[in-house]
Amino acid sequence: MSDLAILKRRHALLGEKAPLFYEEPVHIVRGEGVWLYGPNDEKYLDGYNNVPTVGHCHPHVVDALAKQAGKLNVHTRYLNEEILNYGERLTATMDDSLSRAFFVCTGSEANELAIRIARCATGGMGIIGSDATYHGNTSTVMELATNRKMGGPKRKKSNVRSVPFPQMYRAPKGMSEGALAQAYAAEIQAAIDDFEKRGIKFAGMLVCPIFANEGLPDVPLGYFELMQQIVHGAGGVIIFDEVQSGFGRTGSMWGYENTGIVPDIVTMGKPMGNGHPLAGVVCRPELGDAFHAESTYFNTFGGNPVSCAVGNAVLDVLEQEQLVEQAAEVSAYLRSGLDLLKNDFDLIGDIRNNGMFFAVELVKNRKKKKASKKKPLRIVNMMKEKGVLISSIGADRNILKIRPPLPFTTDHADIVLEKLTECLIEVEG
Ligand SMILES: Cc1ncc(COP(=O)(O)O)c(C=O)c1O
Repeated sequence: MSDLAILKRRHALLGEKAPLFYEEPVHIVRGEGVWLYGPNDEKYLDGYNNVPTVGHCHPHVVDALAKQAGKLNVHTRYLNEEILNYGERLTATMDDSLSRAFFVCTGSEANELAIRIARCATGGMGIIGSDATYHGNTSTVMELATNRKMGGPKRKKSNVRSVPFPQMYRAPKGMSEGALAQAYAAEIQAAIDDFEKRGIKFAGMLVCPIFANEGLPDVPLGYFELMQQIVHGAGGVIIFDEVQSGFGRTGSMWGYENTGIVPDIVTMGKPMGNGHPLAGVVCRPELGDAFHAESTYFNTFGGNPVSCAVGNAVLDVLEQEQLVEQAAEVSAYLRSGLDLLKNDFDLIGDIRNNGMFFAVELVKNRKKKKASKKKPLRIVNMMKEKGVLISSIGADRNILKIRPPLPFTTDHADIVLEKLTECLIEVEG
Protein backbone atom coordinates (compact mmCIF):
# COMPACT_ATOMS: atom_id res chain seq x y z
CA MET A 1 0.00 0.00 0.00
CA SER A 2 1.35 3.46 -0.88
CA ASP A 3 2.27 5.94 1.86
CA LEU A 4 -0.51 8.21 0.62
CA ALA A 5 -3.09 5.44 0.95
CA ILE A 6 -1.85 4.66 4.47
CA LEU A 7 -2.10 8.35 5.35
CA LYS A 8 -5.70 8.48 4.13
CA ARG A 9 -6.64 5.38 6.15
CA ARG A 10 -4.96 6.92 9.16
CA HIS A 11 -6.79 10.23 8.79
CA ALA A 12 -10.11 8.42 8.52
CA LEU A 13 -9.47 6.28 11.57
CA LEU A 14 -7.33 8.41 13.91
CA GLY A 15 -8.27 11.88 12.69
CA GLU A 16 -6.20 14.37 10.72
CA LYS A 17 -4.91 16.01 13.89
CA ALA A 18 -3.46 12.81 15.36
CA PRO A 19 0.22 13.81 15.68
CA LEU A 20 2.70 12.63 13.08
CA PHE A 21 6.37 13.45 12.71
CA TYR A 22 7.80 15.18 9.61
CA GLU A 23 6.21 17.02 6.68
CA GLU A 24 6.39 13.76 4.75
CA PRO A 25 5.82 11.14 7.45
CA VAL A 26 8.28 8.27 7.75
CA HIS A 27 6.95 4.79 7.03
CA ILE A 28 8.84 2.21 9.07
CA VAL A 29 8.34 -1.51 9.29
CA ARG A 30 11.19 -2.81 11.45
CA GLY A 31 13.98 -1.77 13.77
CA GLU A 32 17.31 -3.17 14.85
CA GLY A 33 19.80 -1.59 17.25
CA VAL A 34 20.00 2.11 16.39
CA TRP A 35 18.49 1.66 12.92
CA LEU A 36 14.94 1.84 11.60
CA TYR A 37 13.91 0.49 8.20
CA GLY A 38 11.22 1.38 5.69
CA PRO A 39 9.19 -1.04 3.55
CA ASN A 40 11.79 -0.97 0.76
CA ASP A 41 14.66 -1.29 3.23
CA GLU A 42 15.19 2.48 3.40
CA LYS A 43 17.53 2.95 6.36
CA TYR A 44 17.24 5.63 9.05
CA LEU A 45 19.70 6.26 11.84
CA ASP A 46 17.60 6.71 14.96
CA GLY A 47 18.82 9.85 16.70
CA TYR A 48 15.52 10.40 18.42
CA ASN A 49 14.04 7.43 20.27
CA ASN A 50 14.83 7.01 23.94
CA VAL A 51 12.18 4.34 24.57
CA PRO A 52 14.05 1.49 22.81
CA THR A 53 16.93 2.53 25.02
CA VAL A 54 18.98 -0.68 24.73
CA GLY A 55 18.34 -0.74 20.97
CA HIS A 56 15.34 -1.58 18.82
CA CYS A 57 14.13 -5.16 19.25
CA HIS A 58 17.10 -6.19 21.39
CA PRO A 59 17.19 -10.02 21.13
CA HIS A 60 17.75 -10.52 24.88
CA VAL A 61 14.68 -8.41 25.71
CA VAL A 62 12.56 -10.06 23.00
CA ASP A 63 13.61 -13.49 24.23
CA ALA A 64 12.78 -12.69 27.88
CA LEU A 65 9.38 -11.36 26.84
CA ALA A 66 8.56 -14.42 24.73
CA LYS A 67 9.74 -16.90 27.37
CA GLN A 68 7.70 -15.33 30.17
CA ALA A 69 4.67 -14.87 27.90
CA GLY A 70 4.81 -18.61 27.25
CA LYS A 71 4.99 -19.41 30.97
CA LEU A 72 2.69 -17.13 32.95
CA ASN A 73 1.14 -13.70 32.66
CA VAL A 74 -1.31 -12.51 35.26
CA HIS A 75 -1.87 -9.49 37.50
CA THR A 76 0.01 -8.89 40.74
CA ARG A 77 -2.45 -10.23 43.32
CA TYR A 78 -0.86 -13.68 43.52
CA LEU A 79 2.48 -14.66 44.95
CA ASN A 80 5.03 -14.68 42.17
CA GLU A 81 8.74 -13.91 42.41
CA GLU A 82 9.11 -12.17 39.06
CA ILE A 83 7.94 -8.81 40.46
CA LEU A 84 10.20 -9.16 43.51
CA ASN A 85 13.25 -10.14 41.48
CA TYR A 86 12.75 -7.10 39.29
CA GLY A 87 11.63 -4.59 41.91
CA GLU A 88 14.47 -5.39 44.32
CA ARG A 89 17.02 -5.15 41.54
CA LEU A 90 15.55 -1.87 40.33
CA THR A 91 15.45 -0.18 43.74
CA ALA A 92 19.01 -1.42 44.43
CA THR A 93 20.15 0.96 41.65
CA MET A 94 18.77 3.89 43.67
CA ASP A 95 19.54 5.62 46.95
CA ASP A 96 18.84 3.38 49.99
CA SER A 97 15.99 5.69 51.03
CA LEU A 98 14.09 4.85 47.83
CA SER A 99 12.90 1.32 48.47
CA ARG A 100 9.13 1.15 47.95
CA ALA A 101 7.93 0.34 44.43
CA PHE A 102 4.63 0.60 42.58
CA PHE A 103 4.28 -0.68 39.02
CA VAL A 104 2.09 0.94 36.38
CA CYS A 105 2.00 1.02 32.57
CA THR A 106 2.74 4.61 31.52
CA GLY A 107 4.66 7.64 32.68
CA SER A 108 1.37 9.52 33.01
CA GLU A 109 0.03 6.93 35.42
CA ALA A 110 3.28 7.02 37.36
CA ASN A 111 3.05 10.80 37.81
CA GLU A 112 -0.64 10.63 38.65
CA LEU A 113 0.11 8.07 41.36
CA ALA A 114 3.10 10.05 42.64
CA ILE A 115 0.88 13.10 43.09
CA ARG A 116 -1.66 10.98 44.99
CA ILE A 117 1.12 9.62 47.22
CA ALA A 118 2.42 13.15 47.87
CA ARG A 119 -1.07 14.38 48.70
CA CYS A 120 -1.86 11.47 51.04
CA ALA A 121 1.50 11.70 52.79
CA THR A 122 1.39 15.45 53.39
CA GLY A 123 -2.34 16.03 53.72
CA GLY A 124 -1.88 18.86 51.22
CA MET A 125 -3.18 19.42 47.70
CA GLY A 126 -0.90 22.08 46.23
CA ILE A 127 1.56 20.86 43.59
CA ILE A 128 4.20 23.00 41.87
CA GLY A 129 5.62 22.27 38.42
CA SER A 130 7.68 24.19 35.91
CA ASP A 131 6.19 26.61 33.40
CA ALA A 132 7.06 24.68 30.23
CA THR A 133 6.53 21.18 31.35
CA TYR A 134 4.85 17.99 30.23
CA HIS A 135 4.35 15.09 32.61
CA GLY A 136 1.67 13.08 30.84
CA ASN A 137 -1.90 12.91 29.67
CA THR A 138 -4.16 12.14 32.64
CA SER A 139 -6.36 15.00 33.80
CA THR A 140 -4.49 15.63 37.08
CA VAL A 141 -1.08 15.52 35.45
CA MET A 142 -2.32 17.57 32.51
CA GLU A 143 -3.14 20.37 34.95
CA LEU A 144 0.59 20.92 35.31
CA ALA A 145 1.07 21.55 31.59
CA THR A 146 1.09 25.28 31.03
CA ASN A 147 0.90 24.95 27.29
CA ARG A 148 -2.77 25.51 26.48
CA LYS A 149 -2.57 23.28 23.42
CA MET A 150 -1.78 20.50 25.82
CA GLY A 151 -4.94 21.30 27.78
CA GLY A 152 -3.36 23.50 30.45
CA PRO A 153 -5.57 24.84 33.21
CA LYS A 154 -6.97 28.17 34.33
CA ARG A 155 -4.70 28.15 37.26
CA LYS A 156 -5.58 30.71 39.95
CA LYS A 157 -8.16 28.53 41.63
CA SER A 158 -6.51 25.24 40.88
CA ASN A 159 -4.27 23.19 43.11
CA VAL A 160 -1.28 23.62 40.85
CA ARG A 161 1.18 26.45 40.28
CA SER A 162 3.99 26.78 37.81
CA VAL A 163 7.32 28.43 38.36
CA PRO A 164 9.86 29.47 35.72
CA PHE A 165 12.20 26.60 34.92
CA PRO A 166 15.80 27.41 35.85
CA GLN A 167 18.18 28.21 33.02
CA MET A 168 21.51 29.84 32.38
CA TYR A 169 21.19 30.66 28.68
CA ARG A 170 18.73 33.54 28.98
CA ALA A 171 19.80 34.67 32.44
CA PRO A 172 19.91 38.44 33.06
CA LYS A 173 23.34 39.80 32.13
CA GLY A 174 25.85 40.04 34.94
CA MET A 175 23.87 37.92 37.38
CA SER A 176 26.02 35.35 39.18
CA GLU A 177 25.10 31.68 39.07
CA GLY A 178 24.41 31.71 42.81
CA ALA A 179 22.14 34.74 42.54
CA LEU A 180 20.32 33.13 39.65
CA ALA A 181 19.71 29.94 41.65
CA GLN A 182 18.38 32.11 44.50
CA ALA A 183 16.08 34.02 42.15
CA TYR A 184 14.57 30.83 40.70
CA ALA A 185 14.23 29.33 44.17
CA ALA A 186 12.43 32.47 45.32
CA GLU A 187 9.75 31.70 42.71
CA ILE A 188 9.14 28.35 44.42
CA GLN A 189 8.73 30.11 47.76
CA ALA A 190 6.35 32.62 46.16
CA ALA A 191 4.19 29.80 44.77
CA ILE A 192 4.04 28.17 48.21
CA ASP A 193 3.12 31.53 49.76
CA ASP A 194 0.36 31.93 47.19
CA PHE A 195 -1.05 28.50 48.06
CA GLU A 196 -1.05 29.52 51.72
CA LYS A 197 -2.81 32.81 50.96
CA ARG A 198 -5.56 30.86 49.21
CA GLY A 199 -5.87 28.25 51.96
CA ILE A 200 -4.35 25.46 49.87
CA LYS A 201 -2.00 23.23 51.86
CA PHE A 202 1.20 22.49 50.00
CA ALA A 203 1.95 18.89 48.98
CA GLY A 204 5.07 19.01 46.85
CA MET A 205 6.96 19.84 43.70
CA LEU A 206 7.07 17.68 40.57
CA VAL A 207 9.87 18.31 38.08
CA CYS A 208 12.06 16.47 35.62
CA PRO A 209 15.62 16.58 37.01
CA ILE A 210 17.00 17.50 33.59
CA PHE A 211 14.01 19.67 32.55
CA ALA A 212 13.92 17.68 29.33
CA ASN A 213 10.68 19.01 27.88
CA GLU A 214 11.60 22.54 28.87
CA GLY A 215 14.57 22.35 26.49
CA LEU A 216 17.25 20.77 28.66
CA PRO A 217 18.52 24.00 30.25
CA ASP A 218 21.80 24.25 32.10
CA VAL A 219 20.60 24.64 35.69
CA PRO A 220 22.41 27.15 37.96
CA LEU A 221 24.47 25.42 40.60
CA GLY A 222 22.73 25.25 43.95
CA TYR A 223 19.18 25.39 42.55
CA PHE A 224 18.20 21.85 43.49
CA GLU A 225 19.56 22.16 47.04
CA LEU A 226 17.56 25.37 47.49
CA MET A 227 14.49 23.67 46.02
CA GLN A 228 14.83 20.85 48.53
CA GLN A 229 15.27 23.23 51.48
CA ILE A 230 12.22 25.26 50.52
CA VAL A 231 9.95 22.32 49.63
CA HIS A 232 10.86 20.30 52.73
CA GLY A 233 10.73 23.43 54.87
CA ALA A 234 7.13 23.93 53.79
CA GLY A 235 6.21 20.31 54.56
CA GLY A 236 6.16 19.15 50.94
CA VAL A 237 7.88 16.34 49.08
CA ILE A 238 10.01 16.36 45.94
CA ILE A 239 8.90 14.18 43.04
CA PHE A 240 11.43 13.75 40.25
CA ASP A 241 9.93 12.65 36.97
CA GLU A 242 12.65 10.40 35.55
CA VAL A 243 10.54 9.24 32.63
CA GLN A 244 13.05 10.91 30.31
CA SER A 245 16.17 11.01 32.43
CA GLY A 246 16.19 7.53 33.99
CA PHE A 247 17.92 4.30 33.00
CA GLY A 248 21.29 5.67 31.96
CA ARG A 249 20.30 8.46 29.57
CA THR A 250 22.36 11.05 31.45
CA GLY A 251 25.47 8.89 31.68
CA SER A 252 24.39 7.97 35.23
CA MET A 253 21.65 5.48 36.00
CA TRP A 254 19.36 8.23 37.35
CA GLY A 255 19.12 11.89 36.47
CA TYR A 256 18.88 12.83 40.16
CA GLU A 257 22.47 11.63 40.68
CA ASN A 258 23.69 14.81 38.97
CA THR A 259 21.47 17.20 40.92
CA GLY A 260 23.12 16.94 44.33
CA ILE A 261 19.86 15.88 46.02
CA VAL A 262 17.85 12.70 46.48
CA PRO A 263 14.14 13.15 45.78
CA ASP A 264 11.40 11.66 47.96
CA ILE A 265 9.57 10.07 45.04
CA VAL A 266 10.85 9.03 41.60
CA THR A 267 8.64 8.25 38.62
CA MET A 268 9.86 6.32 35.59
CA GLY A 269 8.61 4.89 32.32
CA LYS A 270 9.61 5.16 28.66
CA PRO A 271 12.97 3.28 28.55
CA MET A 272 12.04 1.00 31.46
CA GLY A 273 10.56 -1.70 29.20
CA ASN A 274 12.41 -0.81 25.96
CA GLY A 275 9.02 -0.22 24.31
CA HIS A 276 6.94 -2.64 26.39
CA PRO A 277 4.49 -0.56 28.50
CA LEU A 278 6.23 -0.67 31.86
CA ALA A 279 6.44 2.29 34.25
CA GLY A 280 6.73 2.80 37.96
CA VAL A 281 6.97 4.89 41.09
CA VAL A 282 9.69 4.40 43.69
CA CYS A 283 9.50 6.30 46.96
CA ARG A 284 10.48 6.39 50.58
CA PRO A 285 8.62 3.53 52.31
CA GLU A 286 6.89 5.80 54.83
CA LEU A 287 5.32 7.74 51.95
CA GLY A 288 4.08 4.50 50.42
CA ASP A 289 2.68 3.47 53.81
CA ALA A 290 0.90 6.81 54.25
CA PHE A 291 -0.68 6.32 50.82
CA HIS A 292 -1.74 2.75 51.55
CA ALA A 293 -3.27 3.88 54.85
CA GLU A 294 -5.75 5.95 52.84
CA SER A 295 -6.00 4.15 49.56
CA THR A 296 -5.44 0.83 47.87
CA TYR A 297 -3.80 0.87 44.50
CA PHE A 298 -4.28 -1.76 41.87
CA ASN A 299 -3.22 -1.64 38.26
CA THR A 300 -4.39 -4.57 36.14
CA PHE A 301 -1.36 -4.70 33.87
CA GLY A 302 1.25 -2.86 35.96
CA GLY A 303 4.03 -5.16 37.20
CA ASN A 304 2.72 -8.31 35.55
CA PRO A 305 5.25 -11.15 35.19
CA VAL A 306 5.91 -10.46 31.49
CA SER A 307 6.52 -6.75 32.13
CA CYS A 308 8.86 -7.57 34.99
CA ALA A 309 10.77 -10.12 32.89
CA VAL A 310 11.17 -7.42 30.24
CA GLY A 311 12.30 -4.85 32.83
CA ASN A 312 14.84 -7.31 34.17
CA ALA A 313 16.16 -8.00 30.67
CA VAL A 314 16.59 -4.26 30.08
CA LEU A 315 18.70 -4.03 33.25
CA ASP A 316 20.71 -7.09 32.07
CA VAL A 317 21.56 -5.37 28.80
CA LEU A 318 22.37 -2.03 30.42
CA GLU A 319 24.83 -3.86 32.67
CA GLN A 320 26.25 -6.43 30.26
CA GLU A 321 26.78 -4.00 27.40
CA GLN A 322 27.87 -1.23 29.80
CA LEU A 323 25.52 1.16 28.08
CA VAL A 324 25.47 3.74 30.88
CA GLU A 325 29.25 4.04 30.64
CA GLN A 326 28.99 4.14 26.83
CA ALA A 327 26.42 6.94 27.10
CA ALA A 328 28.90 8.98 29.15
CA GLU A 329 31.73 8.41 26.63
CA VAL A 330 29.82 8.84 23.38
CA SER A 331 28.00 11.90 24.69
CA ALA A 332 31.31 13.63 25.41
CA TYR A 333 32.40 12.86 21.84
CA LEU A 334 29.18 14.12 20.23
CA ARG A 335 29.22 17.19 22.45
CA SER A 336 32.68 18.20 21.33
CA GLY A 337 31.66 17.75 17.69
CA LEU A 338 28.60 19.93 18.21
CA ASP A 339 30.69 22.54 20.00
CA LEU A 340 32.92 22.76 16.92
CA LEU A 341 29.84 23.29 14.75
CA LYS A 342 28.84 26.19 16.96
CA ASN A 343 32.07 27.95 15.99
CA ASP A 344 31.09 27.72 12.32
CA PHE A 345 27.38 28.51 12.33
CA ASP A 346 25.83 31.64 13.85
CA LEU A 347 22.44 29.95 13.78
CA ILE A 348 23.52 27.85 16.76
CA GLY A 349 22.93 29.91 19.88
CA ASP A 350 23.60 27.32 22.53
CA ILE A 351 24.44 23.66 22.88
CA ARG A 352 23.47 21.72 25.94
CA ASN A 353 23.52 18.09 26.84
CA ASN A 354 22.89 15.78 29.71
CA GLY A 355 24.55 12.54 28.66
CA MET A 356 22.94 11.21 25.50
CA PHE A 357 20.27 13.91 25.43
CA PHE A 358 21.28 16.91 23.32
CA ALA A 359 19.69 20.28 22.76
CA VAL A 360 20.98 22.45 19.91
CA GLU A 361 19.24 25.78 20.32
CA LEU A 362 18.83 27.73 17.07
CA VAL A 363 18.52 31.51 17.20
CA LYS A 364 18.06 34.38 14.77
CA ASN A 365 20.81 36.37 16.36
CA ARG A 366 23.32 35.14 18.93
CA LYS A 367 23.32 38.42 20.85
CA LYS A 368 19.56 38.77 21.15
CA LYS A 369 18.97 35.02 21.51
CA LYS A 370 15.65 35.25 19.70
CA ALA A 371 14.35 31.85 18.73
CA SER A 372 14.76 30.88 15.10
CA LYS A 373 11.23 29.99 14.03
CA LYS A 374 11.34 28.15 10.71
CA LYS A 375 14.84 26.78 10.31
CA PRO A 376 14.71 24.19 13.12
CA LEU A 377 11.71 22.45 11.56
CA ARG A 378 13.37 22.64 8.15
CA ILE A 379 16.51 21.04 9.51
CA VAL A 380 14.55 18.26 11.25
CA ASN A 381 12.88 17.44 7.92
CA MET A 382 16.13 17.74 5.96
CA MET A 383 17.89 15.41 8.40
CA LYS A 384 15.14 12.87 7.83
CA GLU A 385 15.64 13.14 4.07
CA LYS A 386 19.34 12.45 4.70
CA GLY A 387 18.44 9.35 6.73
CA VAL A 388 18.81 10.65 10.31
CA LEU A 389 15.83 10.99 12.63
CA ILE A 390 15.86 13.85 15.15
CA SER A 391 13.18 16.23 16.47
CA SER A 392 12.75 19.58 18.20
CA ILE A 393 11.73 20.80 21.67
CA GLY A 394 11.15 23.97 23.66
CA ALA A 395 8.25 26.42 23.82
CA ASP A 396 9.22 27.73 20.34
CA ARG A 397 10.27 24.31 19.02
CA ASN A 398 13.56 25.96 18.09
CA ILE A 399 15.78 23.47 19.87
CA LEU A 400 16.99 20.44 17.92
CA LYS A 401 16.56 17.36 20.07
CA ILE A 402 18.99 14.49 19.64
CA ARG A 403 18.30 11.61 21.99
CA PRO A 404 19.20 8.25 20.44
CA PRO A 405 19.04 4.70 21.79
CA LEU A 406 22.05 4.13 24.05
CA PRO A 407 23.97 1.67 21.80
CA PHE A 408 24.87 4.77 19.74
CA THR A 409 28.61 4.78 19.02
CA THR A 410 31.05 7.48 17.95
CA ASP A 411 30.59 6.25 14.34
CA HIS A 412 26.87 6.99 14.62
CA ALA A 413 27.69 10.35 16.19
CA ASP A 414 29.89 11.12 13.16
CA ILE A 415 26.94 10.49 10.84
CA VAL A 416 24.80 12.93 12.86
CA LEU A 417 27.56 15.56 12.74
CA GLU A 418 28.13 15.12 9.01
CA LYS A 419 24.45 15.36 8.08
CA LEU A 420 23.79 18.23 10.47
CA THR A 421 26.71 20.16 8.97
CA GLU A 422 25.24 19.66 5.49
CA CYS A 423 21.84 20.93 6.69
CA LEU A 424 23.33 23.97 8.40
CA ILE A 425 25.28 24.87 5.26
CA GLU A 426 22.08 24.58 3.21
CA VAL A 427 19.88 26.68 5.50
CA GLU A 428 22.52 29.32 6.19
CA GLY A 429 23.79 29.47 2.60
C1 LIG B 1 8.91 13.91 31.38
C2 LIG B 1 7.73 13.08 30.97
N1 LIG B 1 6.94 12.56 31.93
C3 LIG B 1 5.88 11.81 31.63
C4 LIG B 1 5.53 11.54 30.33
C5 LIG B 1 4.31 10.73 30.01
O1 LIG B 1 4.66 9.41 29.73
P1 LIG B 1 3.62 8.48 28.96
O2 LIG B 1 3.46 8.99 27.57
O3 LIG B 1 4.26 7.11 29.04
O4 LIG B 1 2.34 8.53 29.72
C6 LIG B 1 6.31 12.07 29.30
C7 LIG B 1 5.99 11.77 27.88
O5 LIG B 1 6.50 12.30 26.95
C8 LIG B 1 7.45 12.85 29.63
O6 LIG B 1 8.23 13.39 28.69
